[in-house]
Amino acid sequence: MCGIVGYLGEKEAFPLLIKGLKRLEYRGYDSAGIAVLGDDGKLQHHRRKGKVDDLLAHMEGRVPSGSLGIGHTRWATHGPPNDVNAHPHLSGDGQLALIHNGIIENYHALKETLVARGHTFYSDTDTEVLVHLIEEILKSSEDLDLFEATRVALNEVVGAYAIAVVDVARPGELILARKSSPLVIGIGDGEFFVASDATPIIEYTKNVVYLEDEEVAKVSLSSGLKIRTIKNHRVTPVITELEMAMESIEKGGYEHFMLKEIHEQPRSIADCLRGRLRLGHGAIRMAGIDDHQQMWTDAQRLIIVACGTSWHAGLIAEYMFEDFARIPVEVEYASEFRYRNPVIGEGDILIAISQSGETADTLAAIRMAKEKGAHVFGICNVVGSSISRESHSGAYTHAGPEIGVASTKAFTAQLAVLALCAIRVGRLRGALDEQRFNRLMVDLSGIPEKVEALMQLEPEIEKIAEEFKNAPNALFLGRGYNFPVALEGALKLKEISYIHAEGYPAAEMKHGPIALIDENMPVFIVATKDAHYDKVVSNIQEVKARGGKVIAIVTAGDSEVKSMADKTIEVHRADDAFVPLLSTIPFQLLSYHIAVKLERNVDQPRNLAKSVTVE
Ligand code: F6R
Repeated sequence: MCGIVGYLGEKEAFPLLIKGLKRLEYRGYDSAGIAVLGDDGKLQHHRRKGKVDDLLAHMEGRVPSGSLGIGHTRWATHGPPNDVNAHPHLSGDGQLALIHNGIIENYHALKETLVARGHTFYSDTDTEVLVHLIEEILKSSEDLDLFEATRVALNEVVGAYAIAVVDVARPGELILARKSSPLVIGIGDGEFFVASDATPIIEYTKNVVYLEDEEVAKVSLSSGLKIRTIKNHRVTPVITELEMAMESIEKGGYEHFMLKEIHEQPRSIADCLRGRLRLGHGAIRMAGIDDHQQMWTDAQRLIIVACGTSWHAGLIAEYMFEDFARIPVEVEYASEFRYRNPVIGEGDILIAISQSGETADTLAAIRMAKEKGAHVFGICNVVGSSISRESHSGAYTHAGPEIGVASTKAFTAQLAVLALCAIRVGRLRGALDEQRFNRLMVDLSGIPEKVEALMQLEPEIEKIAEEFKNAPNALFLGRGYNFPVALEGALKLKEISYIHAEGYPAAEMKHGPIALIDENMPVFIVATKDAHYDKVVSNIQEVKARGGKVIAIVTAGDSEVKSMADKTIEVHRADDAFVPLLSTIPFQLLSYHIAVKLERNVDQPRNLAKSVTVE
């Protein structure tokens, strides 16, 4: 949510900032802005409602010159997306420029105090309050420099922030800080890069420092990087090497990131299984489980917390853990879980699933579970993200950067990791015998190839998309392992095409949603040959009897559903637990093609942001 970039060095900052903002635009895209400090000591400040291209158009070719600058792409929280609310925000005297990702919860009280001291505000934002607060502190004490003033100001702030501050009077330094919103500092040769994630940095340096919560940093051309906590304790920076490849953040010939990411799934699932699924050794190696075997053996209960698509992965995991490991599982929306008073303690393992590893509610849920004594196992895609760092143990999904706002390859990679975990724990607890364990391993290892085969169906799916693109509503149904697939199918369609869609367990249809069915209602239903097949066939008949249009995902060779449904899409046979890794792909492609045909902004759908770092 909101993207931050910054540069300090000898190069021209502006092109770097624009390129970085375009890479971060997936985080928020309702307005954009930059501030560059020129060699003449003047701050060049431009902001615009809309995307980075709207900012560039507004600038009409004026290229700010200078080698210190900050840039921001916004996802509005306080105040509508307009030019005035766009970042950077300036102090009253115009000397300081600040960009911010997060929410200052006590901004109203701070603002009242500052207004009483003569400050005037032009925007609705909490961010403008913060830059005025730093200005006020800076002016009230001659002993404080910008670094100190920022540190002191942040002690007065309640909420979340990743900030970068430029001071006209200090052309050789940039001040940064974070709490609950990510910030990465790239260390180059005589230059520094700053960003909300590593994607704008990777092109220039692989050496990065991830700022921790409540840390304030100063990057200076003369004295390098210095970090302190907001309570003024010195911190030694830890430099980490980035493993990301440049190609992974480019479209590579695809029209959209989402399409590229859908097509990457055979590889991303294989990457996720590689080294963990050891067919030759008849073993699964998951460090986060192997290192805590007793704990997993003794665990009384698993609690899975996540949001959105990751929550759907959690629902499928519930079935897997119950099936393979015979362990009770609860799946919770992180946002609900954290505000209840859940009964949780030692003996519970909390699994947090998050692509970004930065989702505010999921992060808060794991902090609460840790306080209550649970072990936290994090499943994240973004390496070095907050959730991955705050978990006791965990597993990365290794899907590579996911840039399309709608999650696709991260979801299937989550399913692959969760399958590995459930099988591993099942074996550890003696719930899976060797024969079934081996069968599951073989079956799972064949999934990437079966996903690859599904990509060949794209032209067929595109035709279905053409036929149903104007439907105002859609229903997605599934049972058992495929019930969460129905939820995910509906979410995908609504978020990128803006068609109203609902997902239901197929059997629930007759308890209400059936009233919606008529000849205009497409019903997308997973009817693969599994334990629920006969029941799903009955549900299809119920839809057909009411004139509904049925688009069914079936197992290759199926003839029964084919004779009833209006359209069918075939997936290969697999163990029931792994079918979601297949059945979800046609829904992804379908949503994608419907959205393209409706001329939607597929990679950056309206009102959404990739990383939800606000509560
Ligand atoms: C939907 C989607 C969102 C995310 C949700 C959680 O396509 O991407 O529903 O799944 O915001 O995000 P993470 O997984 O980053 O915690």
